[in-house]
Amino acid sequence: MQQYRMYIDGAWVEPQGGRWFDTTNPYTGEVWARIAHGSAADVDSAVGAATRAFAGDWPRLTPSRRGRLLTGLADLIEENAPRLAEIEVRDNGKLYAEMSAQTRYLAEWYRYYGGLADKIEGAVVPTDKADIFNFTRYEPLGVVAMITPWNSPLLLLGWKLAPALAAGNVAVIKPSEFTSASTLELMTLFEKAGFPAGVVNTVTGFGADVGAALVGHPDVAKVAFTGSDISGQKIYEAAARDIKPVSLELGGKSPNIVFDDADPEAAVMGAISGIFAATGQTCIAGSRLLLQRSIHDRFIERLVEVAGSAKIGDPMAPDTNVGPVTTEPQYQKVLDYIEIARNEGATCILGGGPYTGEGARGGQFVSPTIFTGVDNHMRIAQEEVFGPVLAVIPFDDEDEAVSIANDVRFGLAAGVWTRDIGRAFRMSERLRVGTVWVNTYRAVSYTSPFGGYKRSGLGRESGLEAIKAYLQVKSVWIATEASVGNPFIIR
Ligand code: NAI
Ligand code: MG
Repeated sequence: MQQYRMYIDGAWVEPQGGRWFDTTNPYTGEVWARIAHGSAADVDSAVGAATRAFAGDWPRLTPSRRGRLLTGLADLIEENAPRLAEIEVRDNGKLYAEMSAQTRYLAEWYRYYGGLADKIEGAVVPTDKADIFNFTRYEPLGVVAMITPWNSPLLLLGWKLAPALAAGNVAVIKPSEFTSASTLELMTLFEKAGFPAGVVNTVTGFGADVGAALVGHPDVAKVAFTGSDISGQKIYEAAARDIKPVSLELGGKSPNIVFDDADPEAAVMGAISGIFAATGQTCIAGSRLLLQRSIHDRFIERLVEVAGSAKIGDPMAPDTNVGPVTTEPQYQKVLDYIEIARNEGATCILGGGPYTGEGARGGQFVSPTIFTGVDNHMRIAQEEVFGPVLAVIPFDDEDEAVSIANDVRFGLAAGVWTRDIGRAFRMSERLRVGTVWVNTYRAVSYTSPFGGYKRSGLGRESGLEAIKAYLQVKSVWIATEASVGNPFIIR
């Protein structure tokens, strides 16, 4: 069996406590690797290594050189994309078709921010003081803690790591305890690309010990997190004790809103992509389908037809549509929510339980599930399930669609399906979410900001602006005349 040590200070190290934990393949249910069970002591040594790198070799590189390291890494990621994807699939059970596209695409984040590394410019600021010159410089924060979830480990890490390194920071990463392997494999590429020791470090282990120790470490300057809103809130509270900035990419309960003037086939496919792609295990899942009443029944009929014919099974097989649920607790949680929805009085018109049919092997499969007759105040419409469970809610007109769409604590994304251009603009303005897709769903890019309103998070990832989340601005005043004037009065 494979064994993964931690990557600290450019070396592969054993956990100081001598403990290890297993990681399983969600499709076969088999343990396939042993992962170092880190502790606060390992966190301390990783943060120490990062702190030394930040005071040593790393800041001595020119921004252009830093950028070159990142674009070199991007090439290595691209070369290794199929292998990285295979590891992701083995550890989290998502489709190879999706993960291989994702690992290839991941290279673009490192390329984009690598290109940006030497374009971080301050400004000469015009002031009202004739004898003082004022300018700004953007400076890195220092050691950034990055805590990632199990659904798309490498992509979600790249959204943080690429801008953070481009900005001149160093990193200590804690991947999810369910999917640590791919991040450790990525460390070997950092080594190959020639990054100085200590610039990136990975400590593996659990949220409550390693994650919490990292967030609470006095030498960590910032925390970047993707995961559940509950963990995000805990991290935010803990970071507040040291006034550490955080960026939080949390969950969602995103509405996919279909008007009666939409292209019906495109909208059905959009609804499918919103909730059954990635087995619903994505923060941007379109888990509430808002259907205009006049098309409700026709739409549902076609939706059930397509969702009901989705091929469930081996995530490595190219024709599989729906793979297993990644973790055992997540599997239980999805099944619990199906029960909750039934008890709340929603009508299950497809699926509604575990899938044990052909292709299921030992995996944790849930049948694609659709509930109709959902009231937006039900828990199934308000809480993130993170599985292949769709709640269908009817509406009459635009105003009602907006009010239902916005009536949740989350605000990550929304889909709008209409052929009316005016409506597309009106809806995109009125929806209280960080991303609006019109006549498409699940589109993201390294060039475009992504993040949540409300309980879906804090800050944005990707795009030009996102690099500012890893910088702080310094204002420098240089007197061109020696005179200080009256020292008892502010200048
Ligand atoms: P989680 O939010 O607990 O875990 C994400 C990461 O945070 C992991 O690396 C974990 O070890 C770490 N962590 C947990 N508690 C921490 C703490 N107090 N301090 C520092 N680090 C901590 O997510 P989990 O338990 O894996 O999944 C639970 C639920 O979260 C899912 O059912 C799903 O609803 C949601 N989720 C949302 C994701 C998203 O992208 N929005 C991704 C994964 C899960
Ligand atoms: Mg695993």
